[in-house]
Amino acid sequence: MRTQVAIVGAGPAGLMLSHLLHLRGISSVVVENQSRGHIEQRIRAGVLEQGTVDLLIESGVGDRLRREGLVHHGLELRFGGRGHRIDLSGLAGGRSITVYAQQEVVKDLISARLAAGGDIVFEAQGVSLHDISGPAPRVRYRKDEVAREIECDFIAGCDGFHGICRASIPPGALTAYDHVYPFAWLGILAEAPPVSPELIYCHHDRGFALFALRTPRLSRLYLQCRADEDPASWPEERIWDELRKRLGENGNAALQPGPMLQKGLTGMRSFVVEPMRQGRLFLAGDAAHIVPATGAKGLNLAIADVRVLAIALERHYRHGAPDALERYSDTCLRRVWRVQRFSAWMTSLLHLHEEGGKMRQRLQIAELDYLTRSRAAATAFAENYVGLPFDD
Ligand code: APR
Ligand code: PHB
Repeated sequence: MRTQVAIVGAGPAGLMLSHLLHLRGISSVVVENQSRGHIEQRIRAGVLEQGTVDLLIESGVGDRLRREGLVHHGLELRFGGRGHRIDLSGLAGGRSITVYAQQEVVKDLISARLAAGGDIVFEAQGVSLHDISGPAPRVRYRKDEVAREIECDFIAGCDGFHGICRASIPPGALTAYDHVYPFAWLGILAEAPPVSPELIYCHHDRGFALFALRTPRLSRLYLQCRADEDPASWPEERIWDELRKRLGENGNAALQPGPMLQKGLTGMRSFVVEPMRQGRLFLAGDAAHIVPATGAKGLNLAIADVRVLAIALERHYRHGAPDALERYSDTCLRRVWRVQRFSAWMTSLLHLHEEGGKMRQRLQIAELDYLTRSRAAATAFAENYVGLPFDD
């Protein structure tokens, strides 16, 4: 089989890239090692930046998002037992965020690609990359026990943090920056009305908690816990009790427990590789970088990468101009590092840290106090939270 761009991974990055390339008349094949059912059910974050929403809508895959997504103009920061609203839209020039689960974006993209005759190979086994630095790279895999090969001009490595694309680059060619946090989030999805129509990020001396939502009847709730915590040691009653404590007295009345549909642990990591390219292989999304979940930036950053890549590939195919592809890594990394900074800062601000003791906690409260009282500080927060503008 031959295509212009072979894409490894059918997460948001790979699917959106395939869609954006299709709109530009560039052919691609997406090779995914999981089943369609698996990737459509995989629960991840659910906050879309304004730029992500605009791009999904402009590119024709935003109909359901527009109908079902919940537009949020603010959020709450809760500390010292009291809530403080940040008026995101008022501070960030009318921009907002939209609550819409990542797996819904994945479903919308898969159905758009398939409706347009797009080629997505699910359940591909033993995916491997060949000749990434030569003029004719190839992707090999097995499907139904038959060996297959895709010849292409370029490979997009969109196969997430644990994929094979980054690992196919000789280690000496990349610089990795990595920090693993000593805590994690215990996340649950519960059939319970959200405590508030807006997200609540909660600083507490028992640890961080996040009260998020998926729909007006589905809550998505997170508790800071140890990195090696066993979710089995958190029966439902213990989770509700801990959420109640971290929400604090004056928010408690609103917490109405309901059946838990899912429970899992999310590790916290800041990770970047530089450059995001080797020869004809371009890395995008989680394959190149991971942010801790505190700012909900992972999906948004993946979409920003593939937007840059699609524009650069169009310049290459339409005008024979290699300049934008050559700048791909630098263009993406400028945004990646600004978003890493914000995500690491939010993580550090809101979590209970073992090191630093009472002094650190007291300084966190002072910073939160400043953030919620100073229009300048709140504006900087809002500008980052709703998403920085795309650079070209
Ligand atoms: N071969 C083919 N596909 C693979 C392989 C492989 N060897 N390894 C992994 N994959 C697939 C995964 O099954 C997954 O569907 O690659 C896809 C990667 O998707 P994501 O992990 O979702 O990564 P990405 O598309 O970059 O999306 C960004 O933002 O919210 C965060 O981490 C969250 O998924 C999210 C990400
Ligand atoms: C989520 O809805 O799952 C979510 C929201 C905000 C975050 C992280 C996750 O910062």
